[in-house]
Amino acid sequence: MKYVLSLVMVALSVTNLQAQKAKESNLSIESKVQSLLSKMTLQEKVGQMTQLTLDVITKGPDRFSSTEPVELDPLQVEKAFIKYKVGSVLNTANNRARTPEVWNNIISRIQQANKTGLKIPVIYGVDAIHGATYTAGATMFPQQIAMAATRNRDLVLKGAEITAYETRASSIPWNFSPVLDLCPDPRFPRQWETFGEDPYLITELGKQMIKGYEGPGNNISDPFRVASCLKHFLGYQVSASGKDRTPAYISEQALREYHLPAFKAAIDAGAHTIMINSGLVNGIPVHSNPDILIKLLRQELGFKGLVVTDWGDIENLYQRDKIARDHKEAIMIAINAGIDMSMVAYEYERFCDNLLELVKEGKVKEERINEAVSRVLTLKYKLGLFENPVMDYKKYTKFGGSEFARAAYLAASESITLLKNSNNILPLNKNAKVLITGPNANSMRTLNGGWTYSWQGEKVEEFAAKYNTIVEAFKNKAGANQVTYIPGVSYKMSGKYFEEYEDRMQEAVKAAASADVVVLCLGENSYTETPGNLSDLYLSDLQTEFAKKIAASGKPVVLVLNEGRPRIISKFEQQIPAVIQTYLPGNYGADALADIIYGDINPSGKLPYNYPKFPNSLVAYNHKPSESRDMVQGVYNYDADYNPQWEFGHGLSYTTFSYSNLQLSSDKIASTGTITVSVDVKNTGQREGKETVELYLSDLYASITPDVKRLKGFEKISLKPGETKTVRFTLTSEHMSFIGKDNQPVVEPGEFKVEIGKLTKNFSVQ
Ligand code: BGC
Repeated sequence: MKYVLSLVMVALSVTNLQAQKAKESNLSIESKVQSLLSKMTLQEKVGQMTQLTLDVITKGPDRFSSTEPVELDPLQVEKAFIKYKVGSVLNTANNRARTPEVWNNIISRIQQANKTGLKIPVIYGVDAIHGATYTAGATMFPQQIAMAATRNRDLVLKGAEITAYETRASSIPWNFSPVLDLCPDPRFPRQWETFGEDPYLITELGKQMIKGYEGPGNNISDPFRVASCLKHFLGYQVSASGKDRTPAYISEQALREYHLPAFKAAIDAGAHTIMINSGLVNGIPVHSNPDILIKLLRQELGFKGLVVTDWGDIENLYQRDKIARDHKEAIMIAINAGIDMSMVAYEYERFCDNLLELVKEGKVKEERINEAVSRVLTLKYKLGLFENPVMDYKKYTKFGGSEFARAAYLAASESITLLKNSNNILPLNKNAKVLITGPNANSMRTLNGGWTYSWQGEKVEEFAAKYNTIVEAFKNKAGANQVTYIPGVSYKMSGKYFEEYEDRMQEAVKAAASADVVVLCLGENSYTETPGNLSDLYLSDLQTEFAKKIAASGKPVVLVLNEGRPRIISKFEQQIPAVIQTYLPGNYGADALADIIYGDINPSGKLPYNYPKFPNSLVAYNHKPSESRDMVQGVYNYDADYNPQWEFGHGLSYTTFSYSNLQLSSDKIASTGTITVSVDVKNTGQREGKETVELYLSDLYASITPDVKRLKGFEKISLKPGETKTVRFTLTSEHMSFIGKDNQPVVEPGEFKVEIGKLTKNFSVQ
């Protein structure tokens, strides 16, 4: 006991010491910032609030494009950093990934350009959203939507740590990630960048990403960590039209209930920066809204870090959203609303000149500028950029190595979700003669999606040649003789967008007849943002026609989906015995898929959204009672259309699990009380397997119509055949609360239902 006590005391004093040190270092940063600020001219201050894109300062055929190999233009560099004192750069040039060595070169030159005056280092930022996007040779993980399907906090943490390492190896200390948007709408072109449709899942995994990027104690001066950037604050991915950057209408109650929790938790977890929603919420562009940027973010959530705009979004207040009469007024509105740094991207001179004038005219107060600049400087100090503005890439010996590859492979293997397996046709026997077909069968681009070596992912084949496509992974696994590949349908670029065309379709259909099994790889090509807008959620007509023809061959078909959002397949799903969702599994996705299909890995992914069956029935799992058929007991007994193809949380295994002995520590608690829930889970099949145990909570009656159920706990466990484990959850008032009519969290007395597997038990809150 004494020993334990003294250990506890040592631990406490170490923690105190660390807290003390952190406090001192924050204090000293604060005084450094104030002292630097007092020496800065207004031009220097405005420059710190400015971010330009790399193409602006490179040599190229015109002002905003670059020649290859990329080279900085000394005149532009001088103008940006000596004349305009620009404080930040983002993105790559020519929309193309570069090696850590090239990054080191580019960023060294940028930092050296700062040779006069106060020598404030430049902060470089990129979107390394599933690995270091713009770094050649970096480790590409599954995209966030797939990471959500793993339900594995450790894998998410590891992925973020590795991404931080490889981004910093490229001398880039700032990552515009994670995406904490809630996206219950598969029409939206960026759903795959999110953790899906559930606020609790997003919150839990978001915290892991912050930990992985920023490290223990958020010590971002650590050369293997980066500053994270939460985005896109707030309500970005629920536009009414389902299209990018179009208006959203969200009540304050809904904003707080569904959209805010993940951001709040990430802010509490110490995230250093945040990016603003590019769109309109309730008719007001978020970049102009002090209620969100100041009242909610600063005063209520206590966010102390840096607020950066999304791309060109101050310009948008004038040019797109028409709330300002010119650029200058747009700048005034945004800066006064609480923006600290403008991701101007291109016309940075106009931003700087106008802001300078606005301050001189008294339309933007210098205190507001000082506040914004001190946040920029604080971030630079915390990142250690004053001492180490550039990293030595040679010291990052794990970069692109086997340890990181293994982590990405594991993440892919736990994300892939077996949706259907009639008559247990999977796993396949390695002796089976397989026809692999479909536009996604032989493409690294489709496995990775957007933000991979370029914005839209169109350069993936060039950078990812050494990794395996599905066809290659199958050949490696089962032997080249067992596998025939005929595309059937292929993608091609058409302007900015891609089209599909028949590519030996008849031949593929004929080949199906002589195969034992067909692996049909369908889905989407890569995209993000506006180029990914969609007008028809059904899988394309051509792929649907192809699927029907392949199914008509009478051979067993394994449908492999490889898509950024669930494209509807109900026109032919019934003719297909096995369906596997791979999402966007990254560079090791095909290896993981082949291991699953041939049974070396037992699948364990779970859907992070409802997979819809019809385009007019896009209802999330946590909907209201009136939206689902079996819940309606109203006067007219409406036949509400809740009929997803597969529900959130669905995902099969090659083994079976049985749930029993659901126990609650009490059946009555106070509204401030806690309750412990336990359940036994047994592997009742023949194989070892992983199972995610999910706890759903339903408030049976409440003053705001409760959702039918809400995820409030999940734990992934591994079980050997015959093995049983007890899984425990603790429910607190936070889990039982909802946002009430006054927009405040409330726990109301009444009945609650706990649901795990098919077991349920009620308790009441007094
Ligand atoms: C996207 C952001 C991204 C930014 C910088 C914007 O178009 O909406 O998510 O961080 O570009 O690349």
